[in-house]
Amino acid sequence: DSPILDFKGRVAIVTGAGGGLGRQHALALAARGAKVVVNDLGGTVNGTGGSPVAAQAVVDEIKAAGGEAIANGASVTDFAAVQAMVAQAVEAFGRVDILVNNAGILRDKSFAKMELEDFRSVVDVHLMGAVHCTKAVWALMNEQKYGRIVMTTSSSGLYGNFGQSNYGAAKLALVGLMQTLSIEGAKNDIRVNCLAPTAATRMTEDLFPKEMLEAFRPEAVVPAMLVLAGQDAPNRTILCAGAGTFEAAHITLTEGRYIGIGDQVPEALAARLAEVTDRTGEQVPQSGAAQGSNEVAKGMAAARR
Ligand code: NAI
Repeated sequence: DSPILDFKGRVAIVTGAGGGLGRQHALALAARGAKVVVNDLGGTVNGTGGSPVAAQAVVDEIKAAGGEAIANGASVTDFAAVQAMVAQAVEAFGRVDILVNNAGILRDKSFAKMELEDFRSVVDVHLMGAVHCTKAVWALMNEQKYGRIVMTTSSSGLYGNFGQSNYGAAKLALVGLMQTLSIEGAKNDIRVNCLAPTAATRMTEDLFPKEMLEAFRPEAVVPAMLVLAGQDAPNRTILCAGAGTFEAAHITLTEGRYIGIGDQVPEALAARLAEVTDRTGEQVPQSGAAQGSNEVAKGMAAARR
């Protein structure tokens, strides 16, 4: 058997790959044989400014190690520039097999103090940035009947974090995007997954005590990305990775109770809320439609009793 995590002949786009996690993703993909488009706007953590230097430095590093890469300075918020990036990838390397949506910014503030502009710009980069990049490769991946797309979500989106209402909302939106795209892409072997990393980068370095910086180095997240971008990748998985530990997050559904329809239901629901939210036997529905039709089935079964 050929090694599963060999990327020879594959072409990957990694956004926000001028530093931090994206740089490590790009280096690892290139080291395993992929031709890589290193995208980065080259701005600050809060998304201002821009410079081609960061992306080019990573390209130079890949080439010095004997790999193949090209730099791209598109902002993922600019759909025309993203389309041009995909055209550049196809012109240089002939195809695009892998997209790692990694670019991101922070504008942390408690919701009370947050300007709507800071909310919008964070949603714009994380959610719309990933939408733009995914849309720009989607037709191509469908035609070639192969694609691996990784969305970078966050524990802040999955579980919340003080001061990150904008970031958390944008990050969980990427899980929603993944849920539907993994269903729509399946017939043409496009697999879409989420990565929730924890790593000491310029984005988070102040959060980690000094003695933990080494354990949380971004390289420790890379294996999860490689598995999600590989030929044998799962589909519709949310993989968490940090400091050598890997976990999966699931959006589960409790068994619930059929309570009925009618005037007495609000009080009955209030009285039985603990039963409805009890987690014994909870499941992960295969789709939103499956969850809805299951509710109807429970109602019909109750009506027959
Ligand atoms: P980072 O700040 O080092 O990397 C983000 C990169 O994205 C930067 O190089 C930046 O220039 C680039 N970028 C920002 N806006 C862009 C745009 N509009 N177009 C193109 N590139 C743009 O931070 P880090 O930690 O490496 O973050 C990578 C991803 O991982 C982000 O999506 C972040 O939200 C996510 N993440 C990181 C965590 C961590 O613990 N470091 C935790 C959870 C998620």
